[in-house]
Amino acid sequence: MIVCVCNNISDREIRQAVEMGLTSMSDLYKELGVGTCCGKCVSYAREVMNEHLDAR
Ligand code: FES
Repeated sequence: MIVCVCNNISDREIRQAVEMGLTSMSDLYKELGVGTCCGKCVSYAREVMNEHLDAR
C-alpha cells in the first residue's frame, strides 16, 4: 500500500528501510523522501516505521 502518495513510497519500502538500519523519521526523509511534499503521510509513515522497529 502506498503511504506517501506524493513520492510514491509504499509501506513495504519503509519496512525495508528499517531493515537496512533506518530508525528515525529524519532518516526516512533523507533516504526515501517520505513527507517531503505535502506532509500528510508523516504520521502514518511514523506508525509503520515504529511498528516495524518494535517487530524487529
Ligand atoms: Fe507524503 Fe505528500 S503524501 S509528502
